[in-house]
Parts: sequence; structure tokens; C-alpha cells
Amino acid sequence: MPAAIVLGTQWGDEGKGKAVDYLADGMDLVVRYQGGNNAGHTIIAEGRLLKLHLVPSGILYPHITSVIADGVVIDPAVLLAEMDELTQAGLDVSRLLISGNCHLIMPYHLALEKVTERFLGKNALGTTKRGIGPAYADRAARIGIRVQDVFDEKIFREKLDVALREKNAVLAKVYHRLPLDADKIVSEYMAMAERLWPHVADTSKLLHEALEEGRNVMLEGAQGTMLDLDHGTYPFVTSSTPVAGYALASSGIGPQRVERVIGITKAYVTRVGAGPFPTELADHDGDRIGERGQEFGTTTGRKRRCGWFDAVVLRYAARLNGLSEIFLTKLDVLSGFERVRMCVGYRADGQDWDDVPPHQSLFHRAEPVWEDLPGWSDEISDAHTFDDLPAPARAYVRRVEELAGVPVSVVSVGPAREQSLPVPA
Ligand code: IMP
Repeated sequence: MPAAIVLGTQWGDEGKGKAVDYLADGMDLVVRYQGGNNAGHTIIAEGRLLKLHLVPSGILYPHITSVIADGVVIDPAVLLAEMDELTQAGLDVSRLLISGNCHLIMPYHLALEKVTERFLGKNALGTTKRGIGPAYADRAARIGIRVQDVFDEKIFREKLDVALREKNAVLAKVYHRLPLDADKIVSEYMAMAERLWPHVADTSKLLHEALEEGRNVMLEGAQGTMLDLDHGTYPFVTSSTPVAGYALASSGIGPQRVERVIGITKAYVTRVGAGPFPTELADHDGDRIGERGQEFGTTTGRKRRCGWFDAVVLRYAARLNGLSEIFLTKLDVLSGFERVRMCVGYRADGQDWDDVPPHQSLFHRAEPVWEDLPGWSDEISDAHTFDDLPAPARAYVRRVEELAGVPVSVVSVGPAREQSLPVPA
């Protein structure tokens, strides 16, 4: 089988870690294709709880090669700490490969993001403050520093001097912060580079060869479709491109390789940070979903905003990504509600919309058109098959399929690998 793309269809935190971990079993290589350590996956495998930010979830399987592709931005200190943690947990990280083309998050990216977010005041985006936006901005401005640059001290210094000339001026003159010291950065980054060197590879070539040999490759996105720089709720988005098309651009492989596009979709919706969210609940139901779903950020610990399922968003994601199937997560969180709601359309400025409105202002004002479905009182986390689920829970899944126009292939009813139920066609 050729490549499969796995990505989030909402505003991130759809439970991708768990889904990717489940799907990775049949894969030979797992590739992370965008974002950085703004992402966070919590995985429970064989009774162990692991938190991953940069390393692809495939690392949990001894037969899988894990790859960080070109379009990911890397904070080397975070990556090394994560690798150490995985090693301590008894996992072999020697199979982790990193593209030399990945851009590095530098200390000035972190320093600048802290002050610029504050400077935006009430217009702040609510970023994860991991330096992601500034690192991608430098990449586009062509003053970024790549992983490969750190292996040549002369080049590294030259590039750092160019960047620091501007960054230090902005930090000192605009934000009244202390300038950063080039020597200190060089010695810190060179030391980290030494540890990263054995992992750096020509990952595009490696993927090409693996696909030619008929090996199974999974391309794993971070964040979600609605946080996409182009197609999300700009400017309340991340600075990279989670949609499926970018999996190929980042990994350096061609579109004809892709056979499956799997959309990870939570049975309700959450969002962290600012920006429009039509189905958001500011009531007891929202609190209850947040508590039952443990909706706190893996990376930042922030409380997530919660709301009912939004079929308009899922249809939009199905279209943008060309989804072939849906992996529906956290259905167990909805147990115990007398009735569950789905948003099947929007109303904005007296007009009905069955798609995401093309103008952001309309999206900000969009009111959900609700469809109510009967709830189920039983806990469902110990179900072994789809048919074990109570009829209203099965009907909920079938309605998601109908509204999205895409089949649900797996339903997840708990955090463990075993709590994933294949859905009959
Ligand atoms: P940034 O990616 O740190 O620049 O943050 C931009 C927006 O994306 C903010 O609203 C963040 O909360 C959101 N965001 C970034 N990464 C994630 C994620 O992994 N899950 C959910 N939201 C995220």
C-alpha cells in the first residue's frame, strides 16, 4: 500500500495521537509533516502514558522508522528533551530521522513571540508561545536557519549574525528588551547539533525509496484543518499548513502516492486560543464536556473551549482534504446527555449557510442551526465492537457519516489502543 495521510478536521486536539498510534501498527514509516512543538499528543500504550510534541507517534513501535519532514520547525532543546524522555521510558529513538531542511526555532523567536503577543493586546491570537509563528515567518522571509546550517559553524555564524542584526534591533529598540548574545547561541546550538547529527537524513529520498519498495508510509499532520494558514480562521490560525496537500509538499513525495486520507474528528469540538467557534457552549453542557473529555492542552495546560459537533466544519474539512474516511474520537465523552446536538448549518445576517461562509466576518457572526438526537445513558468505554454500542450512539455515528458524506472507519471510546472499534460499512 502507498501513503496514507492522517490529519485533524477541526481546530486541533481531535485525539490524533491516539488515532495515529492505532493506525501506525500496519505502517513501516510514520512522518510528521508540519508544525512544531506547539502540538502535543497524549498516548496511552501498554499502560504507559506518554506525551509527544515533535517525535512522530510511530516511535512506540519497534518496526517503524519515524521521520520529521522538511515542513516541521524544530526547537532542538525540546526535541532532545523528548528523545531523552522516550529513552528513559525504554524506547529506542535511534530510528528517528530528521530532514536537514527543517527550520530551527531560535531563542529570538521565543523572545519575540512573547512580546509581540503582549503588544497585540485584545487582538492577541492566544498562541502557544513556542516561537512557531516567528520561525515560519523567517523561513518565508529567507532569513531562517535550517538544521543543516548548524553543522557548518562558519555558515551558522554568518546566518545567525544576519538574523540577529535585525532581531536584536527590534527587541531592544521596539520592545526595550535585552539583545541576545550570538556566541552563547552558537555554543548552545553547536552542542545540540552534535547530538542531532546521527539522526539527520535525506528524508525525501528515503521516503521515495520506501514507497518504491511497496512499504507503508503514514504522513501525520498536527493542529487541524481550521487552524490552516490559508483555509482556517485567519488570523486565528497557526503559521503552517495542516491540510492534506501539504503532507506531500513537506515530505517531498508526489500526489499519486496517496491512497487514503483519514480525517481525525472528535465527537464534539474544542478550540484553544482566540477566534470564531460557532458551536461553542458557555453553559453547563460545555463544562461537562470539558471535564469528561479532560480538555486541557497537552502543550500549554490551557483549558480548551468546548462545543457540540459541527457538521459544517467537517464537510469543509472533507472537501479541502479529500477525506476517504473518518476516525471518530472521544464518543464516550458524550455518554450521559439526555440529548446530543449537532450543528447542521449556520445562519448569519438572515442568510442560511450549509458551508463555511466565504467571508470571515460572517463566520464570526454565524449561529448554529441545530439538530437534536437522543442521547445514551450507559458508559460505552468498555464496548468491544461497534455493535456493543447503544442504538443512539450508533445512530450518532451514522448521522456523522451522512452529514459528512464520508464513511467513519473507526470509533474511539477511550484513550487506550484497544478502545478503538472498527465500524462496519
Ligand atoms: P501557534 O501555533 O503557537 O502559533 O498558535 C496559533 C493558534 O493555533 C493558537 O490559537 C493556538 O492555540 C493554536 N494551536 C497551535 N497548536 C495547537 C494544537 O496542537 N492544538 C490546538 N490548537 C493549537
